[in-house]
Amino acid sequence: MNSPVMQGLPLNTPSYVKNAKVIAWVADMVALCKPAAIHWCDGSKEEYDRLCQQLVDAGTFKKLNPAKRPNSFLACSDPSDVARVEDRTFICSEKKEDAGPTNNWMAPAEMRATLQPLFDGCMAGRTMYVVPFSMGPLGSPIAHIGIELSDSAYVAVNQRLMTRMGKAVFDVLGTDGEFVPCLHTVGAPLAAGQKDTTSWPCNPKTKYIVHYPETREIWSYGSGYGGNALLGKKCLALRIASTMGRDQGWLAEHMLILGVTSPEGKKYHVAAAFPSACGKTNFSMLVPPAGFNGWKVTTIGDDIAWVKPQADGSLRAINPEAGYFGVAPGTNTLTNPNCMHSLDKDVIFTNVALTDDGDVWWEGMEKDGHNPDHLIDWQGKDWTPAIARETGAKAAHPNARFTVAATNNPALDSEWDNPAGVKIDAFIFGGRRSTTVPLVTEARNWVEGVYMAATMGSETTAAAFGAQGVVRRDPFAMLPFMGYNMSDYFQHWLNLGAKLQASGAKVPPIYCVNWFRKGADGKFVWPGYGENMRVLKWMIDRIEGTAKGVDTGFGVAPAYSEINWNGLEFSAEQFATVTSLDKAAWSEEFKLHDELFTMLSYHLPQELVATKDKLRAALTA
Ligand code: OXD
Ligand code: MN
Repeated sequence: MNSPVMQGLPLNTPSYVKNAKVIAWVADMVALCKPAAIHWCDGSKEEYDRLCQQLVDAGTFKKLNPAKRPNSFLACSDPSDVARVEDRTFICSEKKEDAGPTNNWMAPAEMRATLQPLFDGCMAGRTMYVVPFSMGPLGSPIAHIGIELSDSAYVAVNQRLMTRMGKAVFDVLGTDGEFVPCLHTVGAPLAAGQKDTTSWPCNPKTKYIVHYPETREIWSYGSGYGGNALLGKKCLALRIASTMGRDQGWLAEHMLILGVTSPEGKKYHVAAAFPSACGKTNFSMLVPPAGFNGWKVTTIGDDIAWVKPQADGSLRAINPEAGYFGVAPGTNTLTNPNCMHSLDKDVIFTNVALTDDGDVWWEGMEKDGHNPDHLIDWQGKDWTPAIARETGAKAAHPNARFTVAATNNPALDSEWDNPAGVKIDAFIFGGRRSTTVPLVTEARNWVEGVYMAATMGSETTAAAFGAQGVVRRDPFAMLPFMGYNMSDYFQHWLNLGAKLQASGAKVPPIYCVNWFRKGADGKFVWPGYGENMRVLKWMIDRIEGTAKGVDTGFGVAPAYSEINWNGLEFSAEQFATVTSLDKAAWSEEFKLHDELFTMLSYHLPQELVATKDKLRAALTA
């Protein structure tokens, strides 16, 4: 009886919203969530500025010193809300087998019954923001539209940087266009007259990140952070889109996309999958090192690729996002100068430290000569180098982030916004492995490439809540982002390759890389970052047929002499350290592949089992 809609909380639907389904859904969600007000986001700069000011007034944002960091803000989250919550993320397909053993599952009806009381009144005392967004260029045939209802102004402003957000989305939707409904609440309703006692409202006890793949809906409760709350990113563009891709014959991947142009002006496009916080942003903005004069790398995307087969047998990819939500710690002008330039202005920082002159700092900036004597850390406490030495306290949270529009990136590719996408010439898969996996190898065929991607392992990082530094299998770097059964997804990749090849098309080569191998002293051997260009160039030489490579039994690897070493001292011994295939290590590795395949045995493609047997015989005999 006391629903605000029934009491007459006006929806205030703008006249440009003509989609009856949108209006009905918003009305239903208002009735459920009972916000105090509704704000339809138009995506304008004025609106962005107003909401940022509102966040400053609420204490969520600190405006940074405009002389140092124009139009930029710092938000610090609740210490309980600092990363994606994988153990609270659910795929609620009708059948458990369709979510598969790598996902948390609950039957949709049961989940709906669980969420109903949580969402009932969840936005009391708050404003519901209606955030219309396009994943992919507006109106592109490969783009998809989402509408996020959120009681967080932080979400609304971040979505303006991360997506094509605003009223033009409603023009594309028209009267009967399709959209993915995304409902988000911080899960902290306010009683009448109650004010927030925190600048980062969330629900420290209860969190649910829920996907209904069959009906393509997203419901997120209790967190305001990153992929838990910016629902276009992991929830829509990966988990829901992966199921769309399965049904419609395309791929939604956790991949950066880069362009690489030779001095002669020949351009290649590469899509590369790495787990979270393994340097995708750095690789996508790579600056070629000394010895690569005239080579240029440009960014199409740093995190997600939607890849679609074309009538001519090629694969074209778009970046569905319009901004970067990247990990700040470790970023500096040595590791990623283009990224540092992108962050000069118009940035939202989350959980980095505040300097005494109103700028930001994070671990890694000392390498650029920024050595502050005092900071306010991400939890609002004093930080000094002495405190850090004594307690190990980090000034920035290891998963601290920046949100910035792609258009700030000086290395942005001219085709990044092309609705037709770019043609993919190679796929790369890479994990963070201190041992076992070589610097680079090329799969000898599509099935072997799928095997390498499927069995990828990586040492865990701070991007997800939980233990760090342990190797976990992360097939295709999609473990936390798969919207359906992992084995069915392997089959989908195999089918796609088989179909392309049956039509006479040449599929892109698949490479497996590992930048993270360590020596006996525990230090990284490969210099990484810009030097990864040397590996990229070898791949291009393979594509051009000018590098023969060596068949190692685990694909085709470069001979030492095939890498351009111009400008880098890297001995044949060092090269052997990062490329060697150790029989004992691989015996252990295959046991882990066995474990993975046992876990994924339902619908596991037999071609992958046969590939395992072949590789094991070659590497451990
Ligand atoms: C991300 C992640 O935020 O992968 O991109 O965690
Ligand atoms: Mn990611």
